Amino acid sequence: MNADLFGAPAVPGLVRLPGFALAEEAALIEAARGLATVSPFRVMLTPRGGKMSAAMTSCGAAGWVSDRRGYRYTPRDPLTGQPWPAMPALFSNLAARAAEAAGFTGFAPDVCLVNQYGPGAKMALHQDRDEADFTAPIVSVSLGLPAVFLWGGMQRTGPIAKIPLASGDVVAWGGAERLYFHGIAPLKPGHHPHLGPLRLNLTFRRAF
Ligand code: SIN
Ligand code: FE2
Repeated sequence: MNADLFGAPAVPGLVRLPGFALAEEAALIEAARGLATVSPFRVMLTPRGGKMSAAMTSCGAAGWVSDRRGYRYTPRDPLTGQPWPAMPALFSNLAARAAEAAGFTGFAPDVCLVNQYGPGAKMALHQDRDEADFTAPIVSVSLGLPAVFLWGGMQRTGPIAKIPLASGDVVAWGGAERLYFHGIAPLKPGHHPHLGPLRLNLTFRRAF
């Protein structure tokens, strides 16, 4: 499967849609800010007690939570005791259109994780494996400062492709690659017109 646009070099198993969300950049950022007024960004603990470097929140039917008990989806935000904010139609529509463009038809995400990266923040190599349904793809939207996406394979060790992601870029993976290891290299400082020193990432999943 390969829907690369604008001559971006192919990376096996990762579908790249450069600039797919660029026209909606400002509205997506505004909507993410709105979510964060209900369920604020927070830095979570890893099961081993370390601090993650990206701050996170979620919207949709559940939110992703990490703490000393492990990783899981919860129907309520543990910080507020309230349900996570509903997924904006802007988000779900974009995710469905991007999935379709990436070759994954009928994607209806029920959860969106929102990651916020400041200078130096990163995401270590990991698999997205807390979802009940691995037949659905992951659709990931980048906003704000650029980042380097790390794309591996089914093993934590092995060759890692480094893929630059700019604001408005979308990547998607699924099928045989659904459980591929991936991450984000430490964010380089910079200034984005809408987000200043930050990068936001929206990842859409079918968790249930
Ligand atoms: C993730 O893998 O959950 C986040 C990836 C990203 O920030 O682009
Ligand atoms: Fe991930």
